[in-house]
Amino acid sequence: MSLKKHILDLRKRKEQVEKGGGDKAIEKQVARGKQTARNRILALLDKDSFTEYDLFVEHEARDFGMDKKQLHGDGVIIGTGTIYGAPICIYAQDFTVEGGSLGLMHARKITKIMDHALKMRVPIVGINDSGGARIQEGVNALAGYGEIFYRNTMASGVIPQISVILGPCAGGAVYSPALTDFVFVVDNISKMFITGPGVIESVLGEKISMEDLGGARVHAETTGNAHFFADSELECFDQIKKLITFIPWSNTKRAKTFPPKPPKFKGNIEDLIPSDPRQPYDVRDVIKAIVDDSDFFEIQELWAANIVIGFGRLNGETVGFVANQPLVLAGVLDCDSSDKAARFIRYCDAFNIPIVTLEDMPGYLPGVDQEHAGVIRHGAKVLYAYSEATVPKVTVILRKAYGGGYIAMNSRHLGADFMFAWPTAEIAVMGPEGAANIIFRKEIEEAEDKDAMRAQKVEEYKEKFANPFVAAAKGYIDSVIEPSETRDLLLHAIEVSAHKEDHRPAKKHGVPPF
Ligand code: HXC
Repeated sequence: MSLKKHILDLRKRKEQVEKGGGDKAIEKQVARGKQTARNRILALLDKDSFTEYDLFVEHEARDFGMDKKQLHGDGVIIGTGTIYGAPICIYAQDFTVEGGSLGLMHARKITKIMDHALKMRVPIVGINDSGGARIQEGVNALAGYGEIFYRNTMASGVIPQISVILGPCAGGAVYSPALTDFVFVVDNISKMFITGPGVIESVLGEKISMEDLGGARVHAETTGNAHFFADSELECFDQIKKLITFIPWSNTKRAKTFPPKPPKFKGNIEDLIPSDPRQPYDVRDVIKAIVDDSDFFEIQELWAANIVIGFGRLNGETVGFVANQPLVLAGVLDCDSSDKAARFIRYCDAFNIPIVTLEDMPGYLPGVDQEHAGVIRHGAKVLYAYSEATVPKVTVILRKAYGGGYIAMNSRHLGADFMFAWPTAEIAVMGPEGAANIIFRKEIEEAEDKDAMRAQKVEEYKEKFANPFVAAAKGYIDSVIEPSETRDLLLHAIEVSAHKEDHRPAKKHGVPPF
């Protein structure tokens, strides 16, 4: 055969395989509001940057009629490309081919691109659209997922791992994402569950829709499994692209720096906080008043909203923000917000991203529900994560810093490098009302006018402790600052800690309260 004929033959073969499960299956996919796996990759990566590998891989299963089936590419596309010029390894499962289910060869393709990403020290993006382990392939399919989980774990903290859920994903197709750093979901398209509604009905006799069992909102708002929620696949891809601009390619690199930009916010930062300490406000407004271009990229916005986490830039450099949110539950730490904060702190620490903590919270949430849900174990994760982190750590106490909250939110005692407090800061073991009721109980009980005595004792306690000066006198905070000085001091703190070195005792690893 002439070279020309060889080329024509190659093109024909490619065209055939690129059709995945065929026209009918693609029609079905599109009718569900979903793009094909190939189009998803092309939409996410820089134009003309995608190079595909293993296009001609075929499955090797023989049982349950599989010997008569040809599965193009074995239901997954893998390759390399770029996002804003940053190198990326990527795979996308193809639901049109046997429901994107994972057999042995499908798994080998994914592990090949994961190995490549780890070796090259570049981020990996996995687009999941799969019914999980391919039932017909039995233990081979389970083995495939085991090999993926192992690699997810090995790559954790070394390269960024990003998961996109773009279809009904079951079993391993959700456990692998759960091991990765960021999970993206799209309304009406993403579903995540260990077992689908069909299995639940046959085993438990319960009928439930896919959406109610594990739709995008369930995971963005209730379980916290998803970090980003979008209304469409294209919006989701824009979110991924934006995330890529904030994070480094690997744990040995720094995130890309951008030209510094002043915040767009032009008002007075002190006006953002009500003068009545019981009035709530949106801490995101404070962050936006501080960061470059007022551009704050929030993570897990819809879950555990009593804490706010996300990325912003200071003088062009990526910084991770952890901030109590007085708008929700007064910004308390509870089980979920502790998990949310602790994991993000560990992410920033693993990837050389300085952490800025903005504090305004009355402590850990009391109550039977929280105690029985394990607030001791969950809350301890925050203590552990801050103490363990060796990246630059800066805290600004805006208002309340009570009790465990004062310690937990990156206090000097857990290793904060810089501690600033606004003059409105109240640093005490608990709120003045609670404190006065306990330590002046006798005086209040014996007083003729109990309310007047209580008010007087609350005032006394406030004057003594509910201010930043007692902590400043002991050096627990470094500076009491005017709110308008905050950005400049943070820029300075980040600048002077650029070469921070902080070593921990040699150990295999710690045993955090997972
Ligand atoms: C083989 C599968 C499959 C699977 C789907 N298909 N999942 N084939 N193995 N796991 C096939 C279907 O037979 C169908 O083929 C096509 O994909 C599309 O599936 P539908 O059911 O028509 O689509 P839909 O109604 O949208 O439902 C999607 C679904 C459902 C919710 C994913 O298919 C489902 O519940 N599948 C099983 C999920 C599951 O329990 N997987 C095992 C997980 S165990 P045809 O030829 O009809 O088009 C696991 C082990 C890891 O993953 C454990 C981790 C610790």
